[in-house]
Amino acid sequence: MESFEDKVAVVTGAGSGIGRELAIQLASRGAHLALCDLDSSSLVETAERCLAQDRPSGPARVSHSVCDVTDEAQLEQFRDRALTGLGVDSVNLLFNNAGIGMVESFINGDRSLWEKTFDVCWQGVYLSSRVFIPLVVASDEGHVVNVSSINGFWASLGPNRTHTSYAAAKFAVKGFSEALIAEFRVHAPHVGVSVVMPGHIGTGIVANSRMIATGDPAVGALPEVAERAAAFRNEAPTSAAQAASIILDGVLAGQWRILVGDDAQLLDQMVRDDPEAAYEPEFIERIHQAGVLQHLVE
Ligand SMILES: NC(=O)c1ccc[n+]([C@@H]2O[C@H](COP(=O)([O-])OP(=O)(O)OC[C@H]3O[C@@H](n4cnc5c(N)ncnc54)[C@H](O)[C@@H]3O)[C@@H](O)[C@H]2O)c1
Repeated sequence: MESFEDKVAVVTGAGSGIGRELAIQLASRGAHLALCDLDSSSLVETAERCLAQDRPSGPARVSHSVCDVTDEAQLEQFRDRALTGLGVDSVNLLFNNAGIGMVESFINGDRSLWEKTFDVCWQGVYLSSRVFIPLVVASDEGHVVNVSSINGFWASLGPNRTHTSYAAAKFAVKGFSEALIAEFRVHAPHVGVSVVMPGHIGTGIVANSRMIATGDPAVGALPEVAERAAAFRNEAPTSAAQAASIILDGVLAGQWRILVGDDAQLLDQMVRDDPEAAYEPEFIERIHQAGVLQHLVE
């Protein structure tokens, strides 16, 4: 794909963070948008910012729907509303971005929180792919972008924190995306795929995840959550806007693996150089010595 001009793009989780910035930058680069999120007001704000982008080709067409990506019927409603609203019968780009990050023990944790994290991060990508990939295949030129994580190739947040749900889901997203390379080459050669592996990106994920996983919006305002959320957002080495720009440039460059941030690049190299050591305390020491991922790896 050489440009996003006049392409139709679906972005899940477009109300905040990377998804919001993807939507805005796609709009500024000429695309039309179908956006979804759980949160209505933040989604509307993203849509307004997309519509406000100054483009030589005139304003973007934008459809937005409140939709839970773990619910296939809601995804189908989102799809149908988008096709009608945008006046199209196919889409060029699918960004499976919606996700939450909860650290919940498999052995001692709350099973419903564990499964909620897995469902949003894996089932959300799977069901959205079931609903939208046929429309990408129906386009002249398509690309699927699945947002995994550094936890899609390294299943750890350090020696004392368990991370089974998120890591299992993000490994699944990465494996599915890599397997789609052959799937598309054989059955839909006009469609490409990229898997995105961000390091630490300054977004609202800390508070959003807790509010979504517990179903309680009040937890976002708890002092300990708000403080951690602010530090995570404000002290990140890479902003959500920078992440979106790296992702979109990677798609246009045809990269199937898109590492986002110097921290992700470094960790990828470290795991490849010494995979057997990846879960040993010395490996974490090396990460700390490199001065990266301070807010993720403890
Ligand atoms: N921020 C990071 O450091 C980081 C690192 C690696 C990977 N990621 C991944 O990037 C993606 C985007 O996260 P972000 O950091 O921008 O977080 P964010 O919380 O700022 O944005 C995620 C958006 O997804 C929405 N969402 C969550 N569950 C949903 C559901 N079931 N249905 C529809 N929408 C839903 C949220 O309401 C939110 O608006 C996620 O997949 C996340 O796992 C983030």
